[in-house]
Amino acid sequence: MEIVTSVRDMKARSRAWRKQGLSVGLVPTMGFLHPGHGSLVERSVLENSRTVVSIFVNPTQFGPGEDLESYPRDRDRDAAYMKSLCANVLFMPEPGEMYPPGFATYVEAPELGLRLCGASRPGHFRGVCTVVLKLLNAASPDRAYFGLKDAQQFFILRRMARDLDLDTSMVPCETVREEDGLAMSSRNSYLTPEERAVAPLLRKGLLAAEAYFRDGGREALKACAVVSETLAAEPRFSLDYAEAVAACDLRPVSRVSSETLLACAARLGRARLIDNIIFDPSGPSRKGRGGRPCW
Ligand code: PAJ
Repeated sequence: MEIVTSVRDMKARSRAWRKQGLSVGLVPTMGFLHPGHGSLVERSVLENSRTVVSIFVNPTQFGPGEDLESYPRDRDRDAAYMKSLCANVLFMPEPGEMYPPGFATYVEAPELGLRLCGASRPGHFRGVCTVVLKLLNAASPDRAYFGLKDAQQFFILRRMARDLDLDTSMVPCETVREEDGLAMSSRNSYLTPEERAVAPLLRKGLLAAEAYFRDGGREALKACAVVSETLAAEPRFSLDYAEAVAACDLRPVSRVSSETLLACAARLGRARLIDNIIFDPSGPSRKGRGGRPCW
């Protein structure tokens, strides 16, 4: 595995691969890698001749007072992990390489970026879109892999790829969880042992909402109340939002009649945890149905 730090060198690698007719997969990350990231890399290695993993803690997607400075980093461990999964290139640019002096052009996130996490993190998705477009330009991948833990991020990036006529296909991947159901996340490292012990309550609330849907309930507000009531049992949790939106365009729904994303975010100590379920009233799970989801 090769470590590349400049955009110019990354482009040269990718050009050389294309000349040889090799397909390229990209897994963009901010590092402190865990098996959730690993699952994306494994899929890319299976589906492409070459896999690039990027590690870049992107300053433009952090708001003032957020955790840019304290975001966990462990480059040596990340490199060993990615080597073990057979990634070909670890692309690790410095901030000055991605945003040199005078940098002035941003990708404005579509309307989808104002809702859910976008409401409490203004400018977040503008930073995400800008950096992902730059990473796609540097690696020119056939496919780029994203986790559905960050479902809103995936939907926004997929819309960006469509709107800007990108050639890369954006691939959604299932959320990888700890044994107790907590979605894996680099930010879980912020949790104290006591907070970590209660953290799966977020998933429990979402599963209770899913059970409400499966039992025939269709009221979006009721499903969101199920999540907030579950979290209310633990005073250390502070719910940021629980919202049901249509999976195809992220517009809020009042009654669930088509595939629906129920997403939530909650603070627990220093961490802000997010998770979601996707419920389709017309069939079993997306996996089980065998058909394509509307998005
Ligand atoms: P990061 O949080 O490091 O996540 C990188 C990718 O891994 C994202 O696509 C995310 O959805 C996925 N991922 C994280 N935890 C996962 C889990 N438990 N199961 C499955 N996939 C998981 O998301 C970002 O970085 C950044 O916003 C980025 C896209 C790299 C742009 O800076």
